[in-house]
Order: sequence, then structure tokens, then C-alpha cells
Amino acid sequence: MAARLYVFDAYGTLFDVHATVARHREAIGPHAEALSQLWRVKQLEYTWTYALMGRWRDFRQLTADALDNAAAATGGLPEGLRARLLAAYEELDAYPDAAPNLRRLRDAGARTAILSNGTAAMLESATRAAGLVELLDAVLTVEPQASYKPLPAIYGLVGQSFKTRPDEVVFLSSNRWDIAGARAFGFHTVWVNRTGKPDEYTDLQPERVVGSLDEVDHG
Ligand code: LAC
Repeated sequence: MAARLYVFDAYGTLFDVHATVARHREAIGPHAEALSQLWRVKQLEYTWTYALMGRWRDFRQLTADALDNAAAATGGLPEGLRARLLAAYEELDAYPDAAPNLRRLRDAGARTAILSNGTAAMLESATRAAGLVELLDAVLTVEPQASYKPLPAIYGLVGQSFKTRPDEVVFLSSNRWDIAGARAFGFHTVWVNRTGKPDEYTDLQPERVVGSLDEVDHG
């Protein structure tokens, strides 16, 4: 057990995607919360749409496209804020439980990695800004496959990189659809349900559900 590999989704799991809008809540005004939620929903929708079309448009571009749509749908953005929100996305706050629990897993002899839709450049700057670089054995991105989770080949990047079988991997994500994809691929799964969301994809159950990374077993 101690040699296990723990693979984390990035956005929403280690990094707080709503931190960017939260930093500018006052400037945006009362629709800030709606903007932030729609930005994330559209960002994910675009990943699935492009994946199904078999076309590639990278996650930084989809993140900008999604912000533009969410802003248009919720009343627009004050001058200058688009650039600042997109810049903030490159240096998102990590959840406070991220670094201590990555360290705890490493101290227990486990290996740790990220598998994310993000571009290598986005993940490089976010992990550096959050002080996570030295706590991760690898940061894997979808870019070599030019597609998005939950395409099975994306989860297959873990085995290509670490020479592991799926059942040697524990995959953790706050996204229930990502847990379904990881489970279908054969990973052990932990759903990090930070906000008490209702269950879905009930034929593809996580082995564990936790409210924070502090509850993750390490061996
Ligand atoms: C990621 C998105 C799905 O980091 O949160 O891959």
C-alpha cells in the first residue's frame, strides 16, 4: 500500500477555481457568484464539446472563451477585469488542505501526481505559485492526447508515465464526472466532495467520498 500512486485532478480539487472571481468580488458586483459558477460550467462544457468533435483547442483558450460567455450572460465585466481574471487563473489559490496532505502522502512513501485538463504552462505556474512543485512526482496534462477527460486515453497517460496498472492508482477529484471516468478506467477513486453535492453517475461509484483532503487515508 505504501508504494501507491495518488493522482489528483487540479482545478477544483487542489486549486480553488472560484478564488479568481472572489478576489474581485466588489468590482464585479452582485452577479459575481453567478459569473464564477457559469464560467466553470462553460469551461467544462467546452472541453466535452471539443473532445466529442475531435478538435483541439487548449484549456487556456477554453477558459478565456468561457469567461467571455459567462460575462456576456451575467451583465458584462468592468473595464480591465477580463485580463486580470485570466491572469489570476494562472496563479490560483490552492485549498489549504492541498500542500499538507500531499506532504503527508509523500512522507508515508506514496507517490503523487496531477492529471489535469490544464496546459503544461498553466499547471506549471499554478503549482509554482502555490508551492506544490516539490510535493509532486509529476504533473501530467491532456496535451499529448489533444483531448479532454473523461476520454479513457487521458487516464491512460498515468500508466504510460509511471508504468502502473490502473488498480495501483488512487485517483482523487472533486468533479463527480471525473470520478466516473476514472472508475470506468479502473482506478481506485476518492470523490472530494467539498461542497456536499448530490451523487450522480450512480453506476460508477467512488470507493470513498471525503469532504476534504484531510480525510484521505495514506496507507
Ligand atoms: C482539471 C479540471 C477538470 O483539472 O478540473 O482537469
